[in-house]
Amino acid sequence: MEFEQYARMSADELVERCEKLKSARNAVLLVHNYQVGPVQGVADYLGDSLRLAQLATESDADLIVLCGVHFMAETAKILNPGKKVILPSLAAGCPMADMITADELRGFKAEHPGAPVVCYVNTSAAVKSESDICCTSSNAVRVVDSLDADEVLFVPDKNLGAYAASQTGKNVIAWDGYCYVHNMFVPEDVVVARAEHPNVPVVVHPECPPEVVKMADFVESTGGMVRLAEEHDSLIVGTEIGLVDRLSREHTDKRFYPLSPFAVCRNMKMIDLPRVVWALDHERHEIEVPDDVMEGARRSLERMMAL
Ligand code: 13P
Ligand code: SF4
Repeated sequence: MEFEQYARMSADELVERCEKLKSARNAVLLVHNYQVGPVQGVADYLGDSLRLAQLATESDADLIVLCGVHFMAETAKILNPGKKVILPSLAAGCPMADMITADELRGFKAEHPGAPVVCYVNTSAAVKSESDICCTSSNAVRVVDSLDADEVLFVPDKNLGAYAASQTGKNVIAWDGYCYVHNMFVPEDVVVARAEHPNVPVVVHPECPPEVVKMADFVESTGGMVRLAEEHDSLIVGTEIGLVDRLSREHTDKRFYPLSPFAVCRNMKMIDLPRVVWALDHERHEIEVPDDVMEGARRSLERMMAL
């Protein structure tokens, strides 16, 4: 069936077909917290980057459907080379991951010989294979801290690198990359939100600029925010809007206020429910990782997982 036919189906019909296709293909749907509500609704597992990577290794499904961005599907493939991993839209890339190439990283390393390289999971497999260890937003501090070196190279997110430096005291030399969604937050957003919602704690993602991070009560990955929401009646949430939607859906008795209503990751929103069902039906788009970078990328991911 062509994509247009799925696009014309009702939500109920799509959900029903999704469930049938999942069991027919022995597929598991791993969904990131920034996906649109209807895609979150059909998730077998919903989580942050680290959790999705862990779940990919734990699943006994034959087909992994990654509803997120390209590096997440690539990570699932690196950790499960024998399984078929699909990403419903090839247009769903992470612009931050594209801010550094393996060639550029080789140049960066040459400028700082001997310094270990930490790469954020938001990178290509080629960049991971040139790095010593990978990290996600939930373990960046722990990963940087674990290294037996005072000077550490961090790619590509300058904001997450600055946060890791502030928490570890290490000299973190960060690449000049950033997330266009989180880098948009400014201190005035925090001032305005606190004035509108007095006494409500502020949690921000560590991809936000340091001047915003400094003003927050908590700094958490999206998975950390899900846990924090269990403990608070209300929160001002400085991350992509999909996570705020998830919290509001899961805690109808609580209030979650976006730090900015404009924090939308267009790339994450390239996947919708018709596309997920179409992708399951056609087993598209299969994600492959080039042989020459597979082993190196797996090594840097496995070092992180071992922590
Ligand atoms: P998390 O690992 O916190 O879910 O973050 C992923 C991401 O892309 C943040 O922009
Ligand atoms: Fe990439 Fe930012 Fe979108 Fe996350 S929110 S996928 S870091 S562009």
